[in-house]
Amino acid sequence: MKVLATRRYPGPAFEELGDVEVAPLAAREDVEALIVANEPVDAALFPSLRLVANFGVGYDRLGVEELRRRGVAVTNTPGVLDAATADLTLALILAVRRCVVEGDRRVRAGEWTGSWADGFLAEELTGSTLGIVGLGRIGQAVARRAAGFDVRLLYAQRRRNDAALADYRELDELLAESDIVTIHAPLTPETRGLLDTRRLSLLRDGACLVNTARGEIVDEEALVAELVSGRISAGLDVFAHEPNVPDELVSLPNVVLTPHLGSATRQAREAMTRIVVDNVLAYERGQELLTPVAG
Ligand code: DGY
Repeated sequence: MKVLATRRYPGPAFEELGDVEVAPLAAREDVEALIVANEPVDAALFPSLRLVANFGVGYDRLGVEELRRRGVAVTNTPGVLDAATADLTLALILAVRRCVVEGDRRVRAGEWTGSWADGFLAEELTGSTLGIVGLGRIGQAVARRAAGFDVRLLYAQRRRNDAALADYRELDELLAESDIVTIHAPLTPETRGLLDTRRLSLLRDGACLVNTARGEIVDEEALVAELVSGRISAGLDVFAHEPNVPDELVSLPNVVLTPHLGSATRQAREAMTRIVVDNVLAYERGQELLTPVAG
């Protein structure tokens, strides 16, 4: 089976692919399977296409509806990046709440001149209320980690989960009640712009918003306005127009910015490649796909 991959994906599993070519997504008659990292696929460019194996759990940019309409199977990589994304979420929460990045900047700029006792004061994570928007696999991994900090855990999601690790709240209530809000929902038509101007205004003064899910879930312009005002702080790993980050954010001390690092660990990325390759090989052998995207 002729496979086209948009890059050489990390880890030894990639070598197990037989007929694979690393190239950009340009028109090809012969390609039967594509390996992409949530890049939009114009199926019309690939008349022989039968499978799109997505390197990533989120497949919001692929154009899944059109692929399905053309009978192209789609797979993703759920499960193996939960720990990495949850770890980064905690890193961002701690970095923002304890002013780690601003402290680092001050040291490097030679601004640490007085006594430690004269330094700025941050807020503890311990004892705070953490609101989780979306208590799926990653949200639950965040909840388990955060429990070690003695936080009060709240969650909001479309389907209530009574066996949850956290107390359920309607989204508006969760936003108003939390010291820290972290987003772990997929990007869908329902979640696009979910945190709009009105909802952002429900956040408490001094609250911290962390987003390791998708930038488009938050109205980015409204978020920038809140951050520029200094009313809230944020840890942002994802943005509406990646890799572009709004200019206003770059110099703000109340924001920590990372370049979509959620799954960026060797362990997670190699495991993602493993699943991608296993899906391609399964398709080639006429076996059941491991992780088909539910239709
Ligand atoms: C995913 O898998 O969807 C992530 O955004 C990659 O880190």
